[in-house]
Amino acid sequence: MECVVQEGAVRQVRASDLERCCAVEAACFCPAEAADPDSVAVRMRTYPQGFLVAEAMVDNAPMVVGMVNSGATSKDDISDEAFKKLVGHDPDGRNLVIFSLAVLPEWQGRGLARQLMEAFARRAVALGKERILLICKEYYIGLYERLGYRNLGPSASSHGGASWYEMVLELDRCSPQGASACRNQK
Ligand SMILES: CC(C)(COP(=O)(O)OP(=O)(O)OC[C@H]1O[C@@H](n2cnc3c(N)ncnc32)[C@H](O)[C@@H]1OP(=O)(O)O)[C@@H](O)C(=O)NCCC(=O)NCCS
Repeated sequence: MECVVQEGAVRQVRASDLERCCAVEAACFCPAEAADPDSVAVRMRTYPQGFLVAEAMVDNAPMVVGMVNSGATSKDDISDEAFKKLVGHDPDGRNLVIFSLAVLPEWQGRGLARQLMEAFARRAVALGKERILLICKEYYIGLYERLGYRNLGPSASSHGGASWYEMVLELDRCSPQGASACRNQK
């Protein structure tokens, strides 16, 4: 099997990606934290603009190996579990809230999450959003800080029975044309 990571192989999700996205979700998160296939399908269907996938060439064919998905809201409280199924999603909301950032274990460490997150931030700017919000485990605070996010401290969320931190990327100083949505991302 020949595997090649292509530069810039990040695109908006398509309906036909459902099975691959569910496989990525299941491979990257423990059962208590993984979104079920219904939730992944709802996110794809309801807000494809906020759902990007990363492809790699496997046996000369593109294969989805990573993804980032989200919902929009003007609320600042992002600990609401129902929102993960897009309950309360408002496409005109000023914030994008990331639910899953995931890259298959065998494709990690090659810059795919950075590519996804930079494309996602450019998309957020193009959609006129003010901020990107997410929660992450303590282990990943450094990763998001490298991408320009600021740690807002412990989150009220107890998703999957774990402790989470809330991270924010302010987009107000970014331009949609920027090669990277925010130059402080690196
Ligand atoms: C998190 C995840 C998506 C990262 O994917 P990846 O493709 O391996 O990440 P990248 O190779 O693009 O790394 C991005 C940057 O973060 C850095 N990084 C990676 N893991 C890190 C960590 N735990 N702490 C600090 N920095 C980290 C990398 O060095 C890289 O920095 P650079 O671009 O400035 O050199 C992947 O590990 C994953 O799917 N994990 C399981 C699912 C998960 O927990 N997702 C996060 C939910 S909050």
